[in-house]
Amino acid sequence: MKSIVVFYSLEGNCKLIGQTIAKATGADVLELKLEKPVPDKGPLKYISGGHSALKKMTPKLAEPVPNLSDYELIFVGAPVWAGTFAPALRTFAAKAHLENKLMCFFTCCGGGSTEKCLADMKALFEGNTFLSEIQFVNPASKNREACILKTQSWIENLSVTLSPQEGN
Ligand SMILES: Cc1cc2nc3c(=O)[nH]c(=O)nc-3n(C[C@H](O)[C@H](O)[C@H](O)COP(=O)(O)O)c2cc1C
Repeated sequence: MKSIVVFYSLEGNCKLIGQTIAKATGADVLELKLEKPVPDKGPLKYISGGHSALKKMTPKLAEPVPNLSDYELIFVGAPVWAGTFAPALRTFAAKAHLENKLMCFFTCCGGGSTEKCLADMKALFEGNTFLSEIQFVNPASKNREACILKTQSWIENLSVTLSPQEGN
């Protein structure tokens, strides 16, 4: 099954999980970057990032979104910002027009609830089939190895046949 991991990550947590998924599945990777990046340090990080999430913004991506029509399974991940997903995902969803895909979600937070974020992600990608979801608390700095194992075990238990892809 042709699969791809799509994620946005400001501080490396979703990137760690996205890369772990890609390694375990042989999926391609699409890392979303913003044309005008949110500062990754200081109070502006929270002010600017939090504001864009709360206002449901669609920030411009640095690169055009490629055609994903060949992919059957899409893993999508983003950090929790102000209780919901980081808004790069909204821009991605608007550009990618995904329909009838199998989808799995992953999200990283700082210790708050991920429930609303995952519900918002499902609403954003309505029209697709959701297989599974997984969440972490700052996995790059907290229980990193355990989080990698948790991701690998999640992949093993997915009810889909993942075949390695050429070039991976
Ligand atoms: C702008 C902003 C808002 C955040 N809001 C929340 C939140 O509402 N709840 C929470 O648990 N963590 C929140 N966090 C923490 C991140 O979700 C957490 O550090 C996550 O692991 C970051 O993922 P990343 O490294 O892939 O960017 C926020 C972080 C930022 C930068």
